[in-house]
Amino acid sequence: MKAAVLEARGLRKAFSGVRAVDGVDLALREGEWTALIGPNGAGKTTLLHLLGGQLRPDAGSVYFQGEEITRRPAERRARAGLARTFQVPALFPELTVREHVLAARLRGRWTLRPVPNRDREAVEELLARCRLREKASRRAEELSHGDRRLLEIAVALASEPRVLLLDEPAAGLSPAEVDGLLVLLRELRRERTSLAVLLVEHDMDVVFELAERVVVMHRGRVLAEGSPEEVHRDPEVQAVYLGTREL
Ligand SMILES: Nc1ncnc2c1ncn2[C@@H]1O[C@H](COP(=O)(O)OP(=O)(O)O)[C@@H](O)[C@H]1O
Ligand SMILES: [Mg+2]
Repeated sequence: MKAAVLEARGLRKAFSGVRAVDGVDLALREGEWTALIGPNGAGKTTLLHLLGGQLRPDAGSVYFQGEEITRRPAERRARAGLARTFQVPALFPELTVREHVLAARLRGRWTLRPVPNRDREAVEELLARCRLREKASRRAEELSHGDRRLLEIAVALASEPRVLLLDEPAAGLSPAEVDGLLVLLRELRRERTSLAVLLVEHDMDVVFELAERVVVMHRGRVLAEGSPEEVHRDPEVQAVYLGTREL
C-alpha cells in the first residue's frame, strides 16, 4: 500500500465545550479519492480546517509527506502542496478569473519581470480545463455560484498540489452546474493520478462514482470507514442518517 501523503492522528478540537472533532485518525494516500460524509454538524468542515491549517487542534497531530505540520500556518501548507476549497468560496470580488489563477500559480514568485510563458500557458490550460476560458476576464463578483466553485478549484489546482481537500463542492449548484463540476472532477481523477483527494459530499451518487473509500463522521468521531458499498450497507451508518434527508 502506498504511503500516506496526509495523515491525522488523534485530532481534537472543541468550541466552548462542543467537541467538533473528537479524536480522529485519517490517512490519505497518493492517488486515492476519499469521500468524507456525515450529518450536518458531524465535524467535517472542522476536520478540513485542522488539516488545512485554518484551525489549530487542541490535541493530536497532522503529517504531510511524513513531516509534522500540526502548527504550520495555512499559507505554508498551501505552498507545500496542500490545497483546499471552502464551503463558501473564498475569492477576491474585484480580481478577474485569470488574475486569480495566475496569482495562485505564481504564489511566492512575484517579480517585476513579465510572467514566464510556461506559467501563462499553464494558467490558460487550467482555465480551459475548468471551463472558465470564456469567462477569464470577468471579475469574480460577476460569476454565477457554479463558476465561483470552478474558479476556486482552479485556484487550488494552480499550485499543482499533492493533496486537495474539497468541502461540499456541489452544494448550492444547479443540476447543470453539478454536471459541469462532475466532468471536471472525473477528468482530474483520470489524469492527475497521484493527487490525493478528500471530498466532503452528501450526494451518494457522486460519492459512489468518485471515491474508492468513504469515511463517515458522526459527532466528531469516525463512525465507519470502507468502500462506498460497505459503508452504505452499514446498519450504524443507516441509523445515523435515518430521518435526515442525506444519504
Ligand atoms: N467556529 C465555531 N465556533 C463554535 N462552534 C463551531 C464552530 N465551528 C463549528 N462549530 C460546531 O462544531 C460542530 C461541527 O461543525 P462542522 O465542522 O461545521 O460540521 P459539518 O461540516 O460536518 O457540518 C457543530 O456543532 C458546530 O456548531
Ligand atoms: Mg461543513
